[in-house]
Amino acid sequence: MLENDHLLLVDDDPNQVELIKHFFSKQSPNTKITVAENGRACLEKLSHARFSVVLLDYSLPAMDGLQVFEEIQRMKYDVPVIIVTGRGSEGIAVEAMKKGVYDYVVKKSGYENFLPAVVGKTIERHFLKTRLAQSEERYQRLVECASDVVCLVDLKGKIVMINDRIEKLSGYSSDMLAGKPLLQLIPPEDQILFQKNFKEVSEGLRVRLENRILHKDKTKNWVSISGGPLLEKGAVAGAIFILRDITEQKQTEMELIRKNKELRLLLEVGNVLVSNRQLDQLLEIFARQLTEAIVTTYSRIFLLQDDKLVVRAVYPIRGFSWNPGMQEIFSVDSLPKIKEILGEKRSIVMTPEMLEEICRIDHIKKFLMSDLNGIQSVALVPLISKEEILGMIVLGERRKWERSPLTDSQIALCEAIAHQAAIAVENARLFQDLKGAHFDTIQALAETLETKDAYTKVHSDHTLEYAMAVAEKLNLSEVDKELLKYAAIFHDIGKIGIPDSILNKPARLTDEEYEVMKTHPERGANILRKIKFLAPVVPLVLYHQEMYNGKGYPAGLAGEAIPIQSRIVAVLDAYDAMTSNRVYRKSPGKEYAISELKKYAGSQFDPKVVEAFLKVLEENPSVE
Ligand SMILES: [Fe+2]
Repeated sequence: MLENDHLLLVDDDPNQVELIKHFFSKQSPNTKITVAENGRACLEKLSHARFSVVLLDYSLPAMDGLQVFEEIQRMKYDVPVIIVTGRGSEGIAVEAMKKGVYDYVVKKSGYENFLPAVVGKTIERHFLKTRLAQSEERYQRLVECASDVVCLVDLKGKIVMINDRIEKLSGYSSDMLAGKPLLQLIPPEDQILFQKNFKEVSEGLRVRLENRILHKDKTKNWVSISGGPLLEKGAVAGAIFILRDITEQKQTEMELIRKNKELRLLLEVGNVLVSNRQLDQLLEIFARQLTEAIVTTYSRIFLLQDDKLVVRAVYPIRGFSWNPGMQEIFSVDSLPKIKEILGEKRSIVMTPEMLEEICRIDHIKKFLMSDLNGIQSVALVPLISKEEILGMIVLGERRKWERSPLTDSQIALCEAIAHQAAIAVENARLFQDLKGAHFDTIQALAETLETKDAYTKVHSDHTLEYAMAVAEKLNLSEVDKELLKYAAIFHDIGKIGIPDSILNKPARLTDEEYEVMKTHPERGANILRKIKFLAPVVPLVLYHQEMYNGKGYPAGLAGEAIPIQSRIVAVLDAYDAMTSNRVYRKSPGKEYAISELKKYAGSQFDPKVVEAFLKVLEENPSVE
């Protein structure tokens, strides 16, 4: 059934032409027929008009049918060709088919009758083929124009087709990748995930995953991959994957996580600063935070003391076999390069090359610990407060980096911690100065008291010694111990306001005199209250005359409500009084004092404190 088709009939036999026309007019009246009597005429007509099909007789004058067909191919005319050969020339027909003719017809009696059907079938086949080619071309173009990587793989995972977008992502052109396994673009650590997903796709499922793609230059790009099965006649024949570059998005994500971590760290550092820990403990925490946050092999914090850099904190201390060099001292003059960096007051990162150059001097090698099992690079960050250099942070790193040894943002984080550490050092110094100044004042007061009260000095000294031993037994914290020291020294400082006549009365006190004497804890508290940094000691002095059962003075506190330091001082004070000679009496003696403490443990005294103190006495029999 041919409608509006245009047949080019190439035949030099007019009778044959008439016969063919006759059959067409009967079977396919709409087919227009143009006749060319030889090859040249055929090519001439093809160059001027479009034909649906060419029916080409093999035996033609000048050029034979095959030669004409070759010429048609050479000229790239898009037209299907059918060859008509004589009887016994099947060999020619087969050759023609190999060259690309659509069909052949052998001349035998009545063959003209079949021609319209053969021509019709050929036109239809050609139409379908053209449509397929067009759709393939459109599809190909779509793939080429896609902004994502489109990749077809066979069931073995080999790349059948991949578009040019892959070149930007992997550094390899699509031609280089054709036939190679897609898996070779996936870094080893991501391959298991990818293979699991590929298996699902080959079972007919759709998948979506995030994976990395290995670039030729060994860097990795993040991609989101969506995949689905490639079906052929209802069966899975392979997979189609669409890869989208999400590296930038991932970097932003990771940057956010990192910033978050930094913020948390800085907050933690801030918290450390406001807690009242000792400077060395603080520096230890800073060193740990530096090592952990910047993920480096080691960090050491040096403080500058009289032109010497002293190692004050190291992290890690344990973990791998090295000598962290705590308290090691380096003279700045012996480290000219370090002196120069300190002078410039800015951070510096040393690459392996720079390290090699500078570490020719043994002393610097030791300072930077560059001989430590493959240290590749170091960062030096000065500790600066108010333009003054207080010390230096040194970070050492073993791993080799792909790009830079320590990134700018890592150094910025280190500088932020260095800034906090500098504040801590500065604060500790101020505190030391302050403590010194006030200590002098109080010391002066205590000395005045000693001149007033002949026994107080000895009394205070003994009390301090015992107090520390008892604190140790009771496992008091460092802060509590420090406070106990002050309480032990100053608990009776209020006696400074008691008249000499009462304080040094060579006889028992009258009730009135005793009432005056009982004001000494409050007087002491008032003196210490005026000194800001001794504020935590005030309640300890105020309550040192309280009793465990609540019958003491001035507040009548009981049990754990009395500060532990006050409870300790109470026991020691009583023991001291009982073992000291007074103007008006001789000491009743150690044995008596011990029996009294035992007797009043639980009522006047905290039994735990008495127990600890008795142990201290047992362990130190010579101490009075
Ligand atoms: Fe007292």
